[in-house]
Amino acid sequence: MAIQKIFIVGAGFMGTGIAENAATNGIEVVTYDIIEPVLERSKRIIDKNLTRKVTKGRMTEADKEEIIGRITWSSKIGDCADADIIIEAVSENKELKGKIIKEIEEIAPDNAIIASNTSSISISYLSGLLKDPSRMIGMHFFSPVPAIPLMEIVRGLQTGVRAKKLAIELAETMGKKYIQSRDEPGFLINRMLLPMLNEACVLVERHVGTIEEIDHGMKLGLNHPMGPLELMDMIGIDIELSVMNVLHEEIGDSKYRPAQLIRRMVDAGYLGRKTGIGFYIYDEDGKKIQPNTFILK
Ligand SMILES: NC(=O)c1ccc[n+]([C@@H]2O[C@H](COP(=O)([O-])OP(=O)(O)OC[C@H]3O[C@@H](n4cnc5c(N)ncnc54)[C@H](O)[C@@H]3O)[C@@H](O)[C@H]2O)c1
Repeated sequence: MAIQKIFIVGAGFMGTGIAENAATNGIEVVTYDIIEPVLERSKRIIDKNLTRKVTKGRMTEADKEEIIGRITWSSKIGDCADADIIIEAVSENKELKGKIIKEIEEIAPDNAIIASNTSSISISYLSGLLKDPSRMIGMHFFSPVPAIPLMEIVRGLQTGVRAKKLAIELAETMGKKYIQSRDEPGFLINRMLLPMLNEACVLVERHVGTIEEIDHGMKLGLNHPMGPLELMDMIGIDIELSVMNVLHEEIGDSKYRPAQLIRRMVDAGYLGRKTGIGFYIYDEDGKKIQPNTFILK
């Protein structure tokens, strides 16, 4: 079956990236959110990203218009009624995701599969909430979605063969390479990555090095394209806290306990790029200005 249309729940950072990537590869997309200004922002971001590609000569103005023409921004959940795949990309909250996929199952076509972009929540748990658990699968994209070639496919205990087949087909249509993971906390990548990012926070907290030294160190010493603190700002400090909480709760080992600094930053609204302040302070265009010295107090 060729995938014609996908419905994305959540027009935040990831939902917007998935929409741009899918539409660029010829798929019709509906991006849904409950907050109107978020839909407007999503539209602006995609326009800006594609305009940059036109300016750099990587696509024509006509290509850009065609891609944007494939995306509908909607505040009606009922628009999932003719989608082949529904991808849930709302905030990392078990109850919220559960509520949404149950609602989606009532509206979506019976043969549509329901995917979650969760970073850490059990796919088997989400499947178990559905009348047909075999249609649920994890499709874990990486940010920024249009630039990062990986999709992590996560099979819950009840995930069916068809859901896996369609997930692979979508990955390939979107130009992604995929890896498969069993449904374990953090799957493959976040299980390794998050403790490393958390440790970078502990080093900041304990004044072992400065924010910039920690990032420079990992970039220059290990050839990482971004430092851990820059990466945390891009992913979102709130997302990291949620994932660390799941890892700690489910695995139990103290090495997964979130650093105090992560908790305090979330309390303070220092969520990274999306709030303009995290480990660094950003200007209105998202350009890094300087390290956030408030967190060193
Ligand atoms: N940020 C990353 O780098 C990253 C990477 C991989 C996976 N993820 C996962 O993707 C998901 C989304 O993360 P994000 O960074 O895009 O978060 P985000 O905060 O940028 O976006 C979440 C969106 O969900 C919307 N939302 C909340 N409740 C809703 C509802 N009831 N109906 C419709 N929309 C609703 C919000 O309005 C918001 O726009 C999370 O599960 C996260 O763990 C994030």
